[in-house]
Amino acid sequence: MKRQVIFFLCYIILQVKIDTIAARAIDADEIPDPLTEEEIECIKELGLDEEHILEIDAKEITPEDDDQYNRFAECFCRKMKLQYDNGSMDYDALREYAQELTTEALKDRDDEVILMVRQVVNEAVAYCQDNPAEGTSHGQIAVRTQNCIVQKLYEAKGGAIDKIPLTEEEQQCIDDLGLNKEHILLEIDDEDGAPEDDDQYNRFTECYWKKMELQYDNGKIDYDALRRFTQQAATEDLKDGDEEVVLMVKQLVRRAVNYCRDNPAEGNSHGQIAVKTQNCIVQTLSEITKDQKYHYLV
Ligand SMILES: *[C@@H]1O[C@H](CO)[C@@H](O)[C@H](O)[C@H]1NC(C)=O
Repeated sequence: MKRQVIFFLCYIILQVKIDTIAARAIDADEIPDPLTEEEIECIKELGLDEEHILEIDAKEITPEDDDQYNRFAECFCRKMKLQYDNGSMDYDALREYAQELTTEALKDRDDEVILMVRQVVNEAVAYCQDNPAEGTSHGQIAVRTQNCIVQKLYEAKGGAIDKIPLTEEEQQCIDDLGLNKEHILLEIDDEDGAPEDDDQYNRFTECYWKKMELQYDNGKIDYDALRRFTQQAATEDLKDGDEEVVLMVKQLVRRAVNYCRDNPAEGNSHGQIAVKTQNCIVQTLSEITKDQKYHYLV
């Protein structure tokens, strides 16, 4: 039942809460989600179409009128003792189950951080307990309750994202272009680079790069400015006094920017050129730092 979605939300809430600079993009599809024993049993016992169930389960908010999924949900909740025989949800059990998923999603994280996310999950369950779902079948009640919790987690995620401070220029670009802050933040700082065909993100990047004078009005990149800007950004967080490390990082950035200047990105818009150039630098830096001797820098 929605383990993947809940995992995904826990990750995102975690990321935006601990990382006030940028939320990382996490793709729910990358989170492994094997069926649990109970889920497999329910599919078999009820003779359901496994693919159909998986497809619906992966949706963020589930349709509430799908007969197969409703029966699946009822069966699962009965096996997990999340729902009473009279159709009412057992919210204490539900809270415990959601907490288990949270702990599993965030294993290896600091206790403090896990507590923070658990608190959010508790609040979501409490809200749904105070506003209990009604339905024409036990299955529909279970599905609506699940949707209620997921919806509340989405709201918590949005609230956390709203609190992420942006630089003045970033905020201006989002306001001037009427973009969605959450969408932009989730694209920024993806380890594998940003998507290159996302219209909003391309427009945002063009605006920001031009404001920061990294890109000329004609779309060409100012690689000297880009090098200085990236060096500044890359060394900002390094402790004072570590001159040698600062110099080495600056040197790495210079190599990456030079590489991208010699292999300039092409694109169908100024924004796409900027995004591809940014990805080039991120990817080149990541390649270079894979060398053993630079390993401690990342
Ligand atoms: C359903 O059963 C539970 C447990 O016996 C009980 O607490 C709850 O009030 C019942 N709900 C309704 C609507 O009767």
